[in-house]
Amino acid sequence: MINQNGTFSIDKFIENALYDKNYGYYSKNNPFGKKGDFITAPLVTPLFGEIISIWIISFWIRLGKPKNFSFVELGPGNGAFCKTFCRIINNFPEFKKNLKIFLLEKSERLIKIQKKLIKEKNVYWIKKLSEIKNGPILFFGNEFFDSIPIKQFKLEKSNIYEKYIVLKNGKFKKFIFKKTSKKIKKNLKDLNLLRTKGTIEYPQKGLKILETIIKKIRKLKGGILLIDYGYLKSKGDDTLQSLMSHKRNDYYKNIGNADITYLVNFQLLTKFLSKNRLFLNKTVTQSFFLKKLGIVERAEILCKNMSFKEKADLYYRLERLLSEKKMGKLFKVLFASNIKRKFNLGFK
Ligand SMILES: C[S@@+](CC[C@H](N)C(=O)[O-])C[C@H]1O[C@@H](n2cnc3c(N)ncnc32)[C@H](O)[C@@H]1O
Repeated sequence: MINQNGTFSIDKFIENALYDKNYGYYSKNNPFGKKGDFITAPLVTPLFGEIISIWIISFWIRLGKPKNFSFVELGPGNGAFCKTFCRIINNFPEFKKNLKIFLLEKSERLIKIQKKLIKEKNVYWIKKLSEIKNGPILFFGNEFFDSIPIKQFKLEKSNIYEKYIVLKNGKFKKFIFKKTSKKIKKNLKDLNLLRTKGTIEYPQKGLKILETIIKKIRKLKGGILLIDYGYLKSKGDDTLQSLMSHKRNDYYKNIGNADITYLVNFQLLTKFLSKNRLFLNKTVTQSFFLKKLGIVERAEILCKNMSFKEKADLYYRLERLLSEKKMGKLFKVLFASNIKRKFNLGFK
């Protein structure tokens, strides 16, 4: 599709550029790490995964240590978080005994990479959430939401126009706008997105996925922990972005060879979740969350047996996760559940 001439809505374009079975970015590449295009928190340091693992175990304890606890990782990437999680739970045999880990991954190539890395018996790869029968259930996604295609619109004289990309021989030619349907206009209105000046970003597909997740939570009891880069209030910016070999790339260039993401609208997600009757904690920054959970203290303990060089390396990695100028502030942590007794760990 991308190799031909045509006009594509932004979400359709991203869907093909990232996930086309033959030419899509996630089907051809292992984007993670120094040699790839970007580094995510689980790869910056395993301390990230350790801290999240402790949070998950604490949630299970708060639920009263239920048997048949299901944990679902959304978009596990190269499996780095899950690998750390499997290591940490060996120290918590009672938890491990009652746990099943489900990995929901879209990219066949990444599934292969994950299967090579993760050999534990209680890990299952699933295609659909309907495959999970037992609860309570906890969903976790790090940089999951930002990889689900979005639509873009603009509002002009009370008309809504959707943005499309025109390609010629698989290369970017221009953007055009087309008047949108009444149905989409109503959806945008219902979600309070119409008030935004500038670009309106609508994660139609992301919200659909979230809807299925919410249904599962309501049926089995549980929650969802999402970590991603994004904002609490929209300024109407066009937030689509792309990285290639750790450098900025125009997202409509190098199609299929570069990642395409956007900044997550946390205000929209929290509204959507509470509208669907889940309880929400106040969204906090990654730095706040990890510090509250003791990541610095944990690093200090580890440092005691380290050489100067190792200490410096760990310091640099932690700084990357926590610093306001790096990932600390831009990344937010959202937790929603249908557990009446609030679970505030890391949020207060
Ligand atoms: C930016 S990566 C993040 C990977 C990993 N969570 C990390 O932190 O390193 C996004 C991941 O979500 C996966 N993904 C995107 N859309 C998906 C969907 N609809 N269902 C399942 N996985 C999806 C991608 O294939 C990829 O593994």
